[in-house]
Amino acid sequence: MIVLIISLLRLLSLAFGHPIESRIWKRDIESHETEDDGTKPLVYLTISSLASQSKNEEDRMLELNWDRTTPNATDEDARINLFDRDPLENASEPLVSVRPRASGYFRTSIRFPEQNFTSNSLSDACLHFWIAYVQNGEILSSNCLRARPNWMYQARSVIGNFSLMDLMIPGTHNTGTYSAFDRFDDTIFNRYLITQEENVWNQLVYGIRYLDLRVAYHTTSKSPERLWITHSSFVTDISVKAVMRQVKVFLDSTNEIVIMDFHRFVNGFKGRRAARRHQELVTLLEEELGNYLIPVSFTSWANLSTLWDTGKRLYVGYADESTRRQSSSLFPAIKHLWGDVDAVNALKSYLNQTVCRQRNRRLTSAMAQLTPTTAGAIFNTYGGLRNMADHVNREVTRWFRDEWSHCANIVATDFFLGNNIIEVSIETNKRRQLE
Ligand SMILES: *[C@@H]1O[C@H](CO)[C@@H](O)[C@H](O)[C@H]1NC(C)=O
Ligand SMILES: *[C@@H]1O[C@H](CO)[C@@H](O)[C@H](O)[C@H]1NC(C)=O
Ligand SMILES: *[C@@H]1O[C@H](CO)[C@@H](O)[C@H](O)[C@H]1NC(C)=O
Ligand SMILES: *[C@@H]1O[C@H](CO)[C@@H](O)[C@H](O)[C@H]1NC(C)=O
Ligand SMILES: *[C@@H]1O[C@H](CO)[C@@H](O)[C@H](O)[C@H]1NC(C)=O
Ligand SMILES: *[C@@H]1O[C@H](CO)[C@@H](O)[C@H](O)[C@H]1NC(C)=O
Repeated sequence: MIVLIISLLRLLSLAFGHPIESRIWKRDIESHETEDDGTKPLVYLTISSLASQSKNEEDRMLELNWDRTTPNATDEDARINLFDRDPLENASEPLVSVRPRASGYFRTSIRFPEQNFTSNSLSDACLHFWIAYVQNGEILSSNCLRARPNWMYQARSVIGNFSLMDLMIPGTHNTGTYSAFDRFDDTIFNRYLITQEENVWNQLVYGIRYLDLRVAYHTTSKSPERLWITHSSFVTDISVKAVMRQVKVFLDSTNEIVIMDFHRFVNGFKGRRAARRHQELVTLLEEELGNYLIPVSFTSWANLSTLWDTGKRLYVGYADESTRRQSSSLFPAIKHLWGDVDAVNALKSYLNQTVCRQRNRRLTSAMAQLTPTTAGAIFNTYGGLRNMADHVNREVTRWFRDEWSHCANIVATDFFLGNNIIEVSIETNKRRQLE
């Protein structure tokens, strides 16, 4: 019944028009490290998950975030400024300037364009925008938006002895249901289907290392592919092969370690034909990514140095037990800490009870997003997953930075550029010590 109603909504929704034009802005400038000594104000930029059909309020608006304001934060001369150049070189004429308030957050009307990263120009240089906390004309702290294509390998002297289990790892929930916002295709169906704005390649370049994948078996006259990414039972037009190819380009062009979690199999994976279809998926995996698969014999406790030395940099979790047992390179699916709640407080209380209880048994992902109820989705009481991500993403950054950084393993979010989990993970791993 529910499936029927949503399918109806999908049919009713018309798709027309052209994608919004966008420009890429990129500037190479020397790297901008933010040393956190625990006292300086923290500033960081995020990209809003909110999107609107109205012409002047688009999507991908830059957000200013700050924490630990100075005691004089209410002073006239305390400012959070946005720049299109490095304020350490020239801090005059900010694009946006706001007084720090308790909320620690301001959504600007400046759009951050889609980035078209290419494999031969991967870099963690600042991407056009900087934020600074300025007081009495002095820059107390600054930061910028940037990709993190090599963060693991760059930290090898610190994390070489760590296993994936010892790290904090940024991930995405429903990694494969990605699509850029399209004002002309902003249907209720899409509002509850799409969880990410960036494709898998971009996710990896920005620093995501955990991919949560749900697969359906589905034949169509439009494509020879039979294995597709799905969200619940709604099949997308993104094939599993397309996702694997994006992962392969990333592994080919970096020395990073990636976790692919085939977490759920829906439509077409039940009954007599299931075993054969799983075999089709495993064969595809071996063809596309076979050289990178970490053998199960390494165990989940293999240290990163071993993975680098052997070039085995793809950890695959697989939710079907009988298929997994027949393979020498499929690990158990990653354990999900999933609260299945639609309110921020309920999510916090669930994660507070679970995140720090799981350490060092198996790879575990805190699912740090809200989940709509079916009725709520049909009647659109939440305004869509973009709105739900907006409610929780800012909080998620603070929870995992201030409360659970000592024990979090994987943290998976929706519309991940709306939180700062990638930077929080990188900084946390530098401070962690092996027990
Ligand atoms: C980036 O890719 C998008 C989507 O293909 C395209 O619309 C845009 O023009 C590209 N930007 C640049 C600067 O090439
Ligand atoms: C805060 O205000 C006090 C008193 O006005 C002043 O002495 C101090 O230098 C100020 N601190 C900063 C960081 O501006
Ligand atoms: C700083 O930037 C402003 C605005 O772009 C410019 O007018 C000014 O000349 C720059 N100052 C220096 C010292 O480069
Ligand atoms: C790993 O541990 C070994 C033995 O305790 C130590 O000698 C080595 O320096 C460590 N390496 C890294 C990268 O931390
Ligand atoms: C990593 O694991 C290997 C194999 O267990 C071990 O020999 C090595 O000392 C560990 N540490 C490093 C930094 O390689
Ligand atoms: C989190 O858990 C601790 C005890 O483990 C408790 O004291 C605290 O109140 C909890 N916080 C929230 C927000 O649930």
